[in-house]
Amino acid sequence: MSKFQVKTLSNIADVGLERLEGTHCLLNNESDLPDGVLVRSTKINNEHLTDNLMAISRAGAGVNNIPVDVCTEKGIVVFNTPGANANAVKELVLAGLMLSSRNIYSSIDFVNSLTHLEDMSDLEPFLEENKMQFKGSELAGSTLGVVGLGAIGSKVARMGVALNMNVVGYDPALSVQAAWKLPSQVHPADTLEELFKVSDYVSVHIPALESTKGIINETLFKQSKNLSLLNFARHEVVNTDDVLTYLDKNNLSNFITDFPTPKLIKRANNHKDVILLPHIGASTSQAEENCAVMAVNQLVGFLETGNIKNSINFPEVQIERTTENRITITNKNVPSMIGQIATTLGKLNLNIADMANVSRGEIAYNLIDIENNVEDEAIKAISKIENVVNVRLIK
Ligand code: MLT
Repeated sequence: MSKFQVKTLSNIADVGLERLEGTHCLLNNESDLPDGVLVRSTKINNEHLTDNLMAISRAGAGVNNIPVDVCTEKGIVVFNTPGANANAVKELVLAGLMLSSRNIYSSIDFVNSLTHLEDMSDLEPFLEENKMQFKGSELAGSTLGVVGLGAIGSKVARMGVALNMNVVGYDPALSVQAAWKLPSQVHPADTLEELFKVSDYVSVHIPALESTKGIINETLFKQSKNLSLLNFARHEVVNTDDVLTYLDKNNLSNFITDFPTPKLIKRANNHKDVILLPHIGASTSQAEENCAVMAVNQLVGFLETGNIKNSINFPEVQIERTTENRITITNKNVPSMIGQIATTLGKLNLNIADMANVSRGEIAYNLIDIENNVEDEAIKAISKIENVVNVRLIK
């Protein structure tokens, strides 16, 4: 069996790439027609979606750098690594809370500007005299609103409880699994408006989707008073123009974000109420390694067995391999596909030992273990069935 060609489009931690050794996958960054791609935040466009490509594995949670709809249409499976960098982001949110509550940024700037005070006898009284302008407030007892209670948001909510903050959470799509992980001290808000009304700090942890674009905007800022807003999700989810307007009106007291825009950079140069970081939420060795290992394992698992775990566009399916010949089929999610596939296999005297058929939205995916030897003619015959998107044989 020739090896699957895997190409990286971003820097992927070595500890992950080492997982390719001893598998049926080969790292080949020169390949023009890779079978699988590993990516971090690099933007993927249609040119990357070459003929052989079967899967893209994103070392991270957000997939707004990948044209997922086009991938689904072409039958390309897109994986991400939910939770693998959640702790790293949570810890940076903690830094964001501290930056916004204790004037740390202005304090550091102030001290760095005192190069003219060369004697301790001058410096010490000067600091003592001036420190009152940097008085902050404690997080304990204040209210933290968390928008989105997935892998990262739920960790941020738990951290808020541990800091003795009152924590309010909002997530209309909260899964039962995620709900179980939340401490009872996290109070649910029925609406975003309600969350913004009661919070002193709001931390946003929702994906960038068409439905979430600009969802954090003036409708919510009108509800708040001296609110510190933290965005460690994606820049698209917050309306930056509204942020700038409401910083001037004091509804917002500051904005700390991992996603700078040119307008925000201009503001940050003249005001201390905007603090910008260069998308470093997941940039820790531990998170990069966790994401790389998970992304590689998922990609190898899929290429070698057809099994799917943590895809954002394909259904989850894992069955133990029962025979030497496995066929995977992606088809449009329309009636009578299984019947047509089984009839085609039957005509070729191919006997099914085990199978799974699962669907998600517009597509369905089948894993079929065949008892006899499968030749290419079977794959060609199945490809010809109307509404079949792709077929492959794993020997
Ligand atoms: C994520 O979506 O998980 C992060 O953006 C990952 C990264 O920084 O690459």
